[in-house]
Amino acid sequence: MTTDVRRLDIPALLAALTREEKLSLLDGSDFWHTQPVERLGIPAVMVSDGPHGLRKQPDDGDHLGLFGSVPATCFPPAAGLASSWDTELLGRVGEALGRECRAERVSVLLGPGVNMKRSPLCGRNFEYFSEDPYLAGELGAAWVNGLQSQGVGASLKHFAANNQETDRMTVSAEIDERTLREIYLPAFEAVVTQAQPWTVMSSYNKVNGTYAAESRKLLTEILRDEWGFEGLVVSDWGGVDDRAATVTAGLDLEMPASGGAGADAIRAGLGSGRLTDAELDSAVTRLLTLVDRSLPALAEPPAGFDADAHHALAREAAAASAVLLKNEGALLPLDPGSGGTVAVIGEFARTPRYQGSGSSQVNPTRLDSALDALRTALDGRREVSFAPGYVIESEQAAPALVAEAERAAADAEVVVLFLGLPPSYESEGFDRAHMDLPAHQVELLHTVADANPRVVVVLSNGSAVTLAPWQDRAPALLEGWLLGQAGGAAVADLLLGAVSPSGKLAETLPIRYENNPTVGAFPGEFGRVRYTEGLHIGYRWYDAHRLPVAYPFGHGLSYTTFAYRDLTATVRADGADPQVEVALTVTNTGDRAGTETVQLYVTDPEASVHRPEQELRAFARVTLEPGQSAPVTLTLGRRAFAYWHEQAGRWTVEGGEFGLRVGASSRDIRLEQTVELTGDAPAAPLHAHSTAEQWLAHPEAGPWLRTALGTEGFAALLDDPRNGPMMRAIPLSRLARFPGFPLTHEQVTEAVETYATP
Ligand code: BGC
Repeated sequence: MTTDVRRLDIPALLAALTREEKLSLLDGSDFWHTQPVERLGIPAVMVSDGPHGLRKQPDDGDHLGLFGSVPATCFPPAAGLASSWDTELLGRVGEALGRECRAERVSVLLGPGVNMKRSPLCGRNFEYFSEDPYLAGELGAAWVNGLQSQGVGASLKHFAANNQETDRMTVSAEIDERTLREIYLPAFEAVVTQAQPWTVMSSYNKVNGTYAAESRKLLTEILRDEWGFEGLVVSDWGGVDDRAATVTAGLDLEMPASGGAGADAIRAGLGSGRLTDAELDSAVTRLLTLVDRSLPALAEPPAGFDADAHHALAREAAAASAVLLKNEGALLPLDPGSGGTVAVIGEFARTPRYQGSGSSQVNPTRLDSALDALRTALDGRREVSFAPGYVIESEQAAPALVAEAERAAADAEVVVLFLGLPPSYESEGFDRAHMDLPAHQVELLHTVADANPRVVVVLSNGSAVTLAPWQDRAPALLEGWLLGQAGGAAVADLLLGAVSPSGKLAETLPIRYENNPTVGAFPGEFGRVRYTEGLHIGYRWYDAHRLPVAYPFGHGLSYTTFAYRDLTATVRADGADPQVEVALTVTNTGDRAGTETVQLYVTDPEASVHRPEQELRAFARVTLEPGQSAPVTLTLGRRAFAYWHEQAGRWTVEGGEFGLRVGASSRDIRLEQTVELTGDAPAAPLHAHSTAEQWLAHPEAGPWLRTALGTEGFAALLDDPRNGPMMRAIPLSRLARFPGFPLTHEQVTEAVETYATP
């Protein structure tokens, strides 16, 4: 980057701008640009969707993909990329996206989306990373760091609790504070604290009755004051209701252009005293800071990008994203050099489904189909037959296509059957009606498997589908998610063993929809959706309920195998800022190279509050040659052990024993250890209604109470093995009312004044 780039003198500009100019700056000028102030040399900057590729539209474009966009590399959407668990790879994808933005003079790419996959039916799950906040946060931060290293900003979205598409612009997500803090905010927090995205996009929905865009708690107290966010908050497109309230909350820029409605509302707010000029200036300062950050990249002549190199990266990313769910009898990889005909069946092999619908839709520079890629890779060494088998957007079987597929299967040595969700099944803007594949596709599998049981199923789906009713017909199953423009070639790489699968599930695949945590609490009613499952999202739910699943969170096979040994856990620091170092050795015990993702789950069996059975707190990828071993070290900090203490209003580590589980998935734990930490849990504040048990446990009030009670009567009752638990559960103020209790009401009131902590 050149060093003599003109930068904005923001204090001077603030002084020079008229109020009307300031108001104009807080509104878009069209769908994708901010407003310029030419008189003062403030340029407009451009923002664009993604995020798994650049969707730059012509100037008069819309925001939901009805019009085309410039060609750009379509990387795997988040549902795919997340399954790589590869932060280094996500960083490189972010860098490539940054280069493409620069080539098109786009200053901010609208992503990533780090919302939690709460229900498998959320229509936008393909755009989100995971059901686990730690995984989503680490991946999102890596992506943002990569993108922003190119001088292009990210827009972390949709903040917060946008976990469904039904009524997304109005629904209120009703979430208790601890669940909000432990599940729905941490991915945003991690990206903000580790990567400082230039912008954060507020979500459309309400959280506990207040629009996210109008929530001062979210946009200022948590985002800026607690997490230290230094950037600009932009509305989601059309996500502003009461513009004056959004400014007070901390939302700076309304997008797209509101046709003057935004400026009118802010002007009125200033006039009536609802808003202050200081608040207006803060928002304008943040807008100018965004423009200023964009200038270095804009000052350079736009360089193109290497489309071939980016396609190659998209292929590498796609291969890392697919998850090998099962591989009975080592049916995969297919031997490219020997064997009979490979029957490729399914329209998705020829017409790939590689991204989802809505605002994220990219116009790819190229598009690989798995069918072409397999034919090219096999290059006549094995015959490849093809039968489409079904029509993608149809609910009916096509008898002639089924018969053709059946013949192809019967004549082949092995069948690769491509199944998946039609585009109309999942999109931004609405939720899915069910989790199933089209019924006729499942019937086709049965027909094909009857003709030839050697079936490999490759899935194309942006969100989880039910596998249990049919997966016994397929000895091998590759979950392809949506793999971007090079997905076809990547699938061929995996099927033929040019690359060993390494993806791991970033979400649980339940046996049936009815087992999922949100049954009865999704998508809500009468404008509210109650998160009744609380902390039990995804695997936390299936673990808590001891439910079998089709495939657990973190699961994914390779063509090789790995052994885990020698787990050690060392407490490097204790107290308020604990640090635990976890080390082990991983060995490739198979006969080919491969990559394993080692996962570390923390348990808190001694907690005084309910804690999920286990929670992912660290992971590491390790690539090993056959027979090779490597040490893996994982470091756990304070947050790995902490829970959100609602009364204290802060994170707290409760002293005691913690379990460390290391495994190849959440349900394939290979090694376990425990550590003992002192913690920093605040003593529960005492009050008149605290139970006798809580008073007795208090370090100062306890001894006082013992003395005051003496040893006879009630005192003996409290310690009685049979009646004691019942007695100790009674609030002290209530005991004081009982005839014969040795303390008066006045004495209890006095003790509250002495011992109760505020
Ligand atoms: C989506 C955002 C997107 C924006 C701009 C909205 O409908 O929710 O994710 O970035 O449109 O297209």
